[in-house]
Amino acid sequence: MRDAVLTTVAHITDGEHDLIANCANVASVLYHSLADVNWAGFYLYDGSELVLGPFHGKPACIRIALGRGVCGTSAAERRTIVVDDVEAFPGHIACDAASRSEIVVPMLRDGRLVGVLDVDSPRVERFSSDDAQMMASIVDILMSRLTR
Ligand code: SME
Repeated sequence: MRDAVLTTVAHITDGEHDLIANCANVASVLYHSLADVNWAGFYLYDGSELVLGPFHGKPACIRIALGRGVCGTSAAERRTIVVDDVEAFPGHIACDAASRSEIVVPMLRDGRLVGVLDVDSPRVERFSSDDAQMMASIVDILMSRLTR
């Protein structure tokens, strides 16, 4: 599954440098390929805060300050965060009440914050270290497509 997802992501972004277009397709691939996922998408950094980007799933909160919630914490600390149980994460921002676990991976380009990849699951402890590695590889592919 992991290799199939990475192959698909590499293929659909091949030769395309538009970040929004690539994020939109990747959100679709993740949402439709992974089991037990109710939201998959991106928040993009506008220079001051995170703003909702392409996603699949229910409508989500639009702006997240750095340091807030799982996404804002991942962006501020520039590290992947796996939350096994969102109810145990202080400050978790509940966009879809069905979400029970979450993974957020920061997107960095030449040391600059581009945004975060965020995937939610209705199942507690959905995301393993293998999933974290796969998401990091997806972000690497996306960042490699950027031309500036
Ligand atoms: N739960 C996130 C907010 C985004 S939604 O999950 C789509 C957070 O705490 O940052």
